[in-house]
Parts: sequence; structure tokens; C-alpha cells
Amino acid sequence: MFKPVSAFLLAFGLCGSMVANANEAEPAAAPDQAAFAQKLQACGACHGEKGDKPLAPDYPILAGQHADYIAAALRHYRDGRRTHPIMVAQVKALQLTEDDINGLGEYFAKQQSPLATMHR
Ligand code: HEC
Repeated sequence: MFKPVSAFLLAFGLCGSMVANANEAEPAAAPDQAAFAQKLQACGACHGEKGDKPLAPDYPILAGQHADYIAAALRHYRDGRRTHPIMVAQVKALQLTEDDINGLGEYFAKQQSPLATMHR
């Protein structure tokens, strides 16, 4: 189990630096949006493109989760208040900004979710 995870980290670590390079070489209209799309794509590899189809049963569903919960979790990984080797590495490699964190929370919160609460 641990070996494939390390391969993931390596692959996404490399992705992260490619994103940064692509940004420098791209003075085009909306570099922030392009960078955001790349970061979003990285999340999809493990959580599903819309956050509703996690790669493994113990990977959380993000679709339909509250935006502020998602953003808080990402800040906690970034700030060391929540420790999980995979997610801490993701947040670092992708160099998530405050705007990214808020945008990712909003994106996944809006997606249709297999999760439900008693009140829905
Ligand atoms: C390599 C696989 C992988 C990638 C890529 C990944 N995640 Fe995760 N994510 C996980 C795992 C595993 C957990 C469970 C960690 C834990 O228990 O703290 C998790 C947990 C989370 C949580 C906490 C969910 C909760 O219910 O508390 C959030 C939010 C999250 N990820 C968002 C993201 C976002 C946004 C991205 C893209 C920037 C991303 N993840 C990329 C594997 C991944």
C-alpha cells in the first residue's frame, strides 16, 4: 500500500513544478485560471473529477461537502494542524493559495454528491 502512494506523491510533486513553469511561460489572458484548472485536475486523480468518485474507499468524497469545511481542511493540512502525508504533500506540491483553497471548496461543494443528510 505504501509504495504506490509514494509513486503518487512523486508524480504529483512533479506536476506541481510543471504547473509553476507553465505559469511563468504563459503571459496569456488568465494564467490564474489555467493554474487553478491544473490544480483541480490533480485533486481529481484521487477524489474523482467532481469529487464524487474517490480512488479508494478510504479516500473522502468531496462533492457536496460544505465549501468552508473543505477550505478549512486544506488550510489545516497547509498549516500543520491536520497531518496526513498524502494531503500535506498535495497542498505543498501544488502551492495552493488562499484563492485556490476557497475556489476548490466552492467547486466541490457545488457538485452533485452521493452523500446525503437526514434533512435533504
Ligand atoms: C494522491 C491522492 C490525493 C490527491 C491528489 C488529493 N487528495 Fe485530498 N485526500 C486524499 C486522502 C487519502 C485524504 C484523507 C486524508 C485524511 O484522512 O486526513 C484526503 C483528504 C482530503 C480532504 C479532507 C476531507 C475531509 O472529509 O475531511 C480534503 C478537503 C481534500 N482531500 C481535498 C483535496 C483537494 C482540493 C485536492 C487537490 C488540490 C486533493 N485533495 C488532492 C488523497 C488525495
